[in-house]
Amino acid sequence: MANIEITDLSMSYQKDKKILDDLSLNIKDGELLSILGPSGCGKTTMLRLISGLIPIQKGTIRVSGKDISKVPVYKRNFGMVFQSYALFPHMTIFQNITFGLKRRKLDKKTIEKKALDILDITGLSNLKDRMPSELSGGQQQRVSLARALAINPSVLLLDEPLSNLDAKLRIEMREEIHRLQQKLKMTTIFVTHDQEECFAISDRVALMNKGQIEQLDTPQNIYKNPKTEFVARFIGYDNFISKEWAESKQWQFHKEITGKLLTIRPENIEIGSGENNLLGKVISKNFLGNYYQYIVETEIGTLKVNTTEDQSSTNAEITLNFPKQSLIELEDK
Ligand SMILES: Nc1ncnc2c1ncn2[C@@H]1O[C@H](COP(=O)(O)OP(=O)(O)O)[C@@H](O)[C@H]1O
Ligand SMILES: [Mg+2]
Repeated sequence: MANIEITDLSMSYQKDKKILDDLSLNIKDGELLSILGPSGCGKTTMLRLISGLIPIQKGTIRVSGKDISKVPVYKRNFGMVFQSYALFPHMTIFQNITFGLKRRKLDKKTIEKKALDILDITGLSNLKDRMPSELSGGQQQRVSLARALAINPSVLLLDEPLSNLDAKLRIEMREEIHRLQQKLKMTTIFVTHDQEECFAISDRVALMNKGQIEQLDTPQNIYKNPKTEFVARFIGYDNFISKEWAESKQWQFHKEITGKLLTIRPENIEIGSGENNLLGKVISKNFLGNYYQYIVETEIGTLKVNTTEDQSSTNAEITLNFPKQSLIELEDK
C-alpha cells in the first residue's frame, strides 16, 4: 500500500519548453485518481516520471514518504498498463504473466500459483496457453492488466489503457479495472482524455492543463462546480456569459457574484421565458439519441441548448431562460 506525494515537478524535453510546470499532487493510499486532460498536456510525461522511465529533472516524488528519484524502475514495484498492450508476441499468455515474477527470483511453485491466481481473478484462465495474436484487443488488454497486477504492485499506473478498444468493450473493461482496484485496494493513477470514463470510476479527478493541475476534486464536484473556464469547457459547459452583460440585463443570481464570467450547462438552459431571459434564433437542431441539441445564435454568441423533448425547429426565434440556480461562477484567470 502506498501514498504518492508529487511536489513542484517540472519537466522539459527541450530547453525553454516546460511540459510540466511546478506540478504538485497527492494521491492517497488505495485511491483511484484520474488525470484528465487534452492530448499533449503532459499526462504521459507525468506517469513516465513516476514510473522512472524518464529521470526527474526538478521536484520530488515520494511514495509512502520515500523519495524515489534514485530508485531504479524495476525496484519501484509499480504495475504499468499502456494504450498499446505491449505483450511479448512470442510468449503464451501464461509466460507473459510470469515474466515479471521470474525477474523477481521467486521459486517456481510460488510463481505458478501467483500467475494462476491472477489469471483467475481477471477471468483469463481458459486463455492461458494461447499466444497474444490469438486474442482480441480487449482480451490482450486484460492480459496486460493481469501482467501488471501479477507482481502485486504497490502502485498501478494506467496510461489510456482503454483507448484502443471499441465503445462497448471500453465500458466493460473500465468496470473491470474498477472492480479489481477496489478488490485489491491498490493506489492507482488512471490517465485518460475521456471524461465519462474517468468520472465513472475515479475517487478523485485531477484536471490537467498546460503542465499544471487546474482542479483536483471528486467527479461530482468537478461536474457541478468547475472552477475555471478551461475546466468548464473540458466537461461540456459550452455556454459562457459575462457577468457585466448579465447585470446590464438585470439578471438575477442565487448569490453575490464576484468573478467576471458565468457558465451554464446546455441541458440547464430552458426554452421559454423565465427569470433570466435572452432572445435567440435556432440555427441548427440535432437529434442525439437521448436529447435534442439546438445551436442558438444570440447577442452574446452562439449557445448550445439540450432538451429531452423536441421543443423547437431550425430558424425559429425563441426565448431562452437561464435559471439562476444553474448559473455557475468561474474564477478570473
Ligand atoms: N520524447 C519527447 N521529446 C520531445 N517532446 C516530447 C516527448 N514526449 C512528449 N513530448 C511533448 O511533450 C508534450 C506532452 O506530451 P505527453 O506527456 O505525451 O502528453 P499527453 O500524454 O497528455 O498527451 C507534447 O507536446 C509532446 O509533443
Ligand atoms: Mg499520453
